[in-house]
Amino acid sequence: MDHKRIICLGLLLLLVFVLSEHNKLIQTLSNDGKGCGVCVFAITEAQKLFKSKPHLSTPLLFKQICRMPNDAKTQESCDAISSEHTQQFDEYIKKNWDADYICSKLGLCKTCHLLSDANQVFSSPTAALSLPQNIRDAQYKARVLAPLLFSQFKGLQSDQNGEGLPKRIFDLDGDYFSKYNSVGRGANWRGRDCNDWSSKVHPGRKYTNIGEDMNCNGIHGIDKETEKSFEDLFCNSFPDDRQLIFLGDSSVAGFMIPVEWLDLKNLTKVLSAYNNELDWPMKVWGSGWDDSIQSESMYHRIVSRNKCAHRQFQNVAKNGAEMKDLVEQIKNVQISHDDKPALVFIGYIGNDVCGPSLETMTPVDLYEKRLREGLESLNKKLPKNSKVVMFGLIDGAILFDHMGDLQHPIGPVKYSQFYEFLTCSGMNPCSTWLTTNSTSRALASERMRQLDGVLEKLVTEQFKFENFDLTFIDFEELIDLAFAQLDKEKRPYSDLIDAVDGFHPSILYGSRILSKFLWQVLEKQRPDFIGDINPNNEKIQSLFGDQGGH
Ligand SMILES: *[C@@H]1O[C@H](CO)[C@@H](O)[C@H](O)[C@H]1NC(C)=O
Ligand SMILES: *[C@@H]1O[C@H](CO)[C@@H](O)[C@H](O)[C@H]1NC(C)=O
Repeated sequence: MDHKRIICLGLLLLLVFVLSEHNKLIQTLSNDGKGCGVCVFAITEAQKLFKSKPHLSTPLLFKQICRMPNDAKTQESCDAISSEHTQQFDEYIKKNWDADYICSKLGLCKTCHLLSDANQVFSSPTAALSLPQNIRDAQYKARVLAPLLFSQFKGLQSDQNGEGLPKRIFDLDGDYFSKYNSVGRGANWRGRDCNDWSSKVHPGRKYTNIGEDMNCNGIHGIDKETEKSFEDLFCNSFPDDRQLIFLGDSSVAGFMIPVEWLDLKNLTKVLSAYNNELDWPMKVWGSGWDDSIQSESMYHRIVSRNKCAHRQFQNVAKNGAEMKDLVEQIKNVQISHDDKPALVFIGYIGNDVCGPSLETMTPVDLYEKRLREGLESLNKKLPKNSKVVMFGLIDGAILFDHMGDLQHPIGPVKYSQFYEFLTCSGMNPCSTWLTTNSTSRALASERMRQLDGVLEKLVTEQFKFENFDLTFIDFEELIDLAFAQLDKEKRPYSDLIDAVDGFHPSILYGSRILSKFLWQVLEKQRPDFIGDINPNNEKIQSLFGDQGGH
């Protein structure tokens, strides 16, 4: 064979490879619903752009549109869909066909409609155009929003590395702690690393007689009089000096989609988030450390009692996690027997019961087995004198009861209609509870109570561990306290719940109020978990000021 033939053959093979990868991408996109969101977005925006710039060719239109999401994977999906269908799109856009209709015909969207009879809306390429504009906008927003909700809770697995967590970028020394807040799982999730060149320096370490700040709590140096390190004098001498660890699901990670993103001009933000976690661990009830949560998170409350705990926290929770993920999450905690003991919060408050159907809920015996395995592996890892707070599950029936009839921020649509749309699209992250079918909701609540029973049983049967004490917090008790508070303030119960997803504690209100009552319950039931006030706080303050800031 001469060189030209070899090159031709090579190009041909490359083309076959590219095409098969391309088809695989389109296939995945139609399965996980992202293709639907991207397709409806791209066509709707292309039609708008075409009106103002009719001289642009269709490939150029899509090139512009597909650059709008700030996420390479979503851009790639958009390019794949538009190049696959350039010819048809050219025609459809000029004829101004309904985007939803086109994407359904291409097999990327299911024929589901929020408010109208789907058979009628999808009966012709222009039938939907006669619907009122606010209803068409709501449908557009729902198409883009649904895959995000779904992928965060049931579909994220494909985007993870082996650890079950997105990559930590800018963690040079590989000690799991980073200097940077917002890149990957950086300092938003774990206390800031004060030396990213040494894996021996990171929050959580316990050390003696070293003048250097090895755990980044801002306390360093040797006291001249006693020749002891200040860490020894102020922290190691205080028996309740513990670091904080948070394991659990999106309610611990702080999932939230801001309402402003639902504005038509801002929908690209929703698309850009398809492949990212949408968590705000710095604002949530547990690990919240930024100023917006003031003194209302567990972290802030603990630090105000013990200044040694500054930066000593790790949040390894993950959207969609359930009891089966406990062992895996524990592997992601950076702690050994020589480190500071921990106060651990474990919250898997619903995903064991959420799912596409009642059959996929976690069975009681399996739940108990996973819980025992998880606690045993935690015992192997934690230093002596640690404490573990285990949350029960929340009864998701309250979501439908209190949200069902309210209007969703996407438009003139009730939450109950939105839930049904999600189910029809195959995108409902919790169709056992988020459904108009009251039998399903009742069966899900029954399973939730059985699983809660397992937790209560384990704690009361004195399941003893060498390295930690265990307590159980009934989530229902927290909710009752929160409802009583809302009654007092004459606020609707829906304030507890996030407006966009309709099923998480809202970051601005729900998360704070839960934190307040969790603290109250702990103070009453287990003051030993919270610990005393560190008598050295004032000395720490006067010697080390703000301890290096967050
Ligand atoms: C778009 O979102 C930004 C914040 O992310 C917000 O400030 C702005 O008001 C939003 N735009 C509209 C039109 O709501
Ligand atoms: C409601 O859910 C139950 C339990 O899954 C099921 O047996 C029943 O057929 C459902 N009812 C309707 C009207 O879909």
